[in-house]
Amino acid sequence: MKRHALCALHDLSENSTRGFDLGEDSRPRYIFIVLRKQRVYGYVNRCPHLGATMEWLPDQFLDYQGVFIQCALHGALFAVNSGLCLRGPCIGASLQKVRIEIDNGQIFALLDQSSKL
Ligand code: FES
Repeated sequence: MKRHALCALHDLSENSTRGFDLGEDSRPRYIFIVLRKQRVYGYVNRCPHLGATMEWLPDQFLDYQGVFIQCALHGALFAVNSGLCLRGPCIGASLQKVRIEIDNGQIFALLDQSSKL
């Protein structure tokens, strides 16, 4: 398990999202985080429908109202706290969670080096 520093907790505001590429050796490993009600949720940035990356614009992963995570390609909606698809072509499927740790005001992602992202 490798710990990757992402950003400071105070860099995020409520309902803000941010994407990261934690890849090494030119192999991308895209993830994103969401701050909601003082909790940080992390997911692999890959839609369970067709495997697309999900942001509308850089660091924009939520729907227009800022309630759900939304895939930009076909509009699937996912719950922020579980990653479960609630509406769209992959309903019932889930985003892959990324373990997040907050240490001394810094947000870290914990990734298994052998897992494919
Ligand atoms: S690739 Fe995300 S909804 Fe189709």
